[in-house]
Parts: sequence; structure tokens; C-alpha cells
Amino acid sequence: MTDRKPLMVGNWKMNANHLEAIQMVQKLFYRLDLEDYDRADVVVAPPFTSLRSLQILIETDHMRIGLGAQNVHWQESGAFTGEVSAPMLKKLDVGHVIVGHSERREHFGETDAIVGKKLKAVLAAEMTPILCVGETLEQREAGEAETVVTSQVTAALKGVDPLDVSGVVIAYEPIWAIGTGRTALPDDAGLIAGIIRETVLNVSNSEVASNTNVLYGGSVNAGNIKDFMAKEHIDGALVGGASLDPDQFATIVRYWR
Ligand code: 13P
Repeated sequence: MTDRKPLMVGNWKMNANHLEAIQMVQKLFYRLDLEDYDRADVVVAPPFTSLRSLQILIETDHMRIGLGAQNVHWQESGAFTGEVSAPMLKKLDVGHVIVGHSERREHFGETDAIVGKKLKAVLAAEMTPILCVGETLEQREAGEAETVVTSQVTAALKGVDPLDVSGVVIAYEPIWAIGTGRTALPDDAGLIAGIIRETVLNVSNSEVASNTNVLYGGSVNAGNIKDFMAKEHIDGALVGGASLDPDQFATIVRYWR
């Protein structure tokens, strides 16, 4: 057991317009009660186009639901057509920003160096980066999962002040488990989560490492969340598809019931 508060994050990816997003958050809110919020932190990460609407909704109705973003640029402002900066997100009350998601690494050429710059920009704007790491199926089959994940974490945290590492959440998302309906075995995921914590220890200190939230992501649903949460080093989940259904996401958030 740990005293780390579970964190459940819904990564909506490129789904839902802002009107749909409002409905989804309202439904989620109605399905959760005070005990749920006391026991778990809940964050939804919609596309950028919904952030302003959800900021107003959450503030007006005093919802204990956090706002997340799926991406960010590392510069504060300038000639970067199509990009959004960390201070802009902060101004929208965004608390968490996903960096280094495997879909961005794969489809948009994000390297460890880019991911590291984004992570630092998020910290500088006083938000929490959710650093995503994970191996491909090929790498897993070659027995390289541990080294791949360790090197991704080390690279992204390079140059971050050891004390600032305490402000980082790390999500282990094996690429072969994302959107495939195939999950990692809870034991395997728990093992990698422990290795991530050791890696954090190597670049910070034991207090930071023991307080770092490590999430699992990859085909998490209402039926399997409990098995992952039972693992010592897994403190929450980064949920894709299942987070688009407020009923199912609420069941994931209140996984202990
Ligand atoms: P799925 O839950 O749809 O597999 O997606 C996981 C993910 O990529 C979350 O960031």
C-alpha cells in the first residue's frame, strides 16, 4: 500500500466536439460522489477546442474534475503556426499535460529530446506533465521493454531539477496494448511501473520516487482496472477509449467499489 492518491486520466484523443465534451463531463460528474473525489483525482484531457468550454463548466458547477491537455509546444509564444503553449494552457486552468504519447512519437515524429523540452515547458508553467513511455511489441518480444522504458524516462527527465521531478506523473503505456483490447498482464505492468520508480529514484531521491504517481495505460476498462490498481507501483490509469463513455469512466474512477 502507498499513500499516493490514485489518479484517473481520460485521454479523449481526437474525439468529441465542445458540445459533446460538455455533455460527457456533466454525465461523469453526476455519476461520481464525494467519496470518489476523496479517494481519486479525476482528470479529463479533451482536444484543445473543448478546453475553454470545460473550464467554464467545471468552474461554474464547482466540479472536482481536473482539466488536462493532450499536447503542448515547448516555446512560450512565437511563430509556430498551429501550436499551443504551456502558459496558454495554464490560463485555461489546465492542470495536467500529456507529453510523449506514443501516437505523437509515432505519427508526429516526437523524439525523446522533443518530449523532454515539452516536459520542462509544462513544469515551468506550473502544471503537471504526464510523461508517456512504453515499448513496441517487437521490443517486448525481444526482451527490451525494461531498457526502452528506462531510457525514455531518463531522457525526458534529463536536465530537470531533481526536486522538480516530484511534479511529474509517468504513464506506462505499452504501445501494443493501446486501442487493441489487449492489455499488459497486471504483473508485467506492475513490474515495469516499479522499474519506472527506480529510474525516478536514480535521477532524484527516495522521497520523490516514492511519491511519484505511475499510471498504467493500454485498453484499461471497467472490467480490468481493479487488477492493475492492485499492483504496488501502479497508482492510476491513463484511459483512452473507455474514457469516452462517462458510465464506464466513472466505474474506472471508483474501481474499489
Ligand atoms: P486505450 O485505452 O484506448 O487503449 O488508449 C490508451 C491510451 O493511449 C491512453 O493515453
